[in-house]
Amino acid sequence: MRNRRAALAAVASAASLALTLSACGQNSEGGSKDKGGDAKGATIGIAMPTKSSERWIADGKNVVKDLEAKGYKTKLVYGEDDPDQQVSQIENLITQGVKGLIVAAIDNKSLNNVLQEAAEAKIPVIAYDRLILGTGNVDYYASFDNTKVGELQASYIVDKLGLKNGKGPFNIELFAGSNDDNNTKYFFNGAMSVLKPYIDSKKLVVRSGQTELTKVTTLRWDGATAQKRMDDILTSSYKSRRVDAVLSPYDGISIGILSSLKSDGYGSKSKPLPVVTGQDAELASVKSIIAGEQTQTVYKDTRKLADVASTMVDDVLHGKKPEVNDTKTYDNGSKVVPSYLLQPVSVDRTNYEDVLVKGGYYTAAELK
Ligand code: GAL
Repeated sequence: MRNRRAALAAVASAASLALTLSACGQNSEGGSKDKGGDAKGATIGIAMPTKSSERWIADGKNVVKDLEAKGYKTKLVYGEDDPDQQVSQIENLITQGVKGLIVAAIDNKSLNNVLQEAAEAKIPVIAYDRLILGTGNVDYYASFDNTKVGELQASYIVDKLGLKNGKGPFNIELFAGSNDDNNTKYFFNGAMSVLKPYIDSKKLVVRSGQTELTKVTTLRWDGATAQKRMDDILTSSYKSRRVDAVLSPYDGISIGILSSLKSDGYGSKSKPLPVVTGQDAELASVKSIIAGEQTQTVYKDTRKLADVASTMVDDVLHGKKPEVNDTKTYDNGSKVVPSYLLQPVSVDRTNYEDVLVKGGYYTAAELK
């Protein structure tokens, strides 16, 4: 009896080991031979940058949902804006036998070594929203038209101030995103392509004198850092002047800028808030837009982005070429990464209901 039980236990444990191995998508040769093998039931690793912003929480959930609907298992990790933590998380995912990786980088240049390990294990890599630089081991890039994001923010300022009708001069201050995020320069250059003619003709004046990208970045997109910079600018350059517009690349930064402006007395009849742009249509910022504080945001439907990225990984694992719509723009220093770029949409008080509520991104109750 005892022997029979032991024999049964041994069979059961061998079977469970086999199941575990197959769940990890491993085979007796220690990995699939090509990127088209072992897709069924495989685990996909998803590395997101931070939980401190709603958008990345939504991105993570959406990617998991889409991959599960395609029959995959998932492992979702957040690097809490620490590049080293993200590297070790991706290393762990590789060790755990993931068959594909979807990565939104924290520091675009810190992943080269770990992605070399991924390449050696024949794991395809999709750069999610943010391009990873300096490595050939990025297969595809899923993002938005990042130049267009900046153009939308800047065009909004131009329209709101009436610059095309000859109004001005106005005072503007410029903010950009994190210098280790590849998107930052696309947003900023897109915006400056629209603003620069007005700066050159002095219809827009940057009183702080800070117009170079290197002078206006905000490490890790941190709202408190932006708030501090705005405080300094108001003290140094606006004691006896009013700021009319602030180019902000991201809602979290816009919230910091608005706090600074409000503590300096902006937001009253005699000292109205300037035009303040943003990006991501985060809940707090959409509420701020409805309340008449932040003026605009750029909405990027993370549901669509998640769908593009999970379809890309699924296609690669089935030996199919993913659909791309841009093969020129995103040179990462090692190769031009084939990309699928979605379209961003400018949102303000006049269209948030149509775009965000009718589009099912938020319910009317959530915006109350
Ligand atoms: C960028 C992203 C923006 C915004 C920002 C801060 O990479 O494209 O939409 O989310 O990060 O999280």
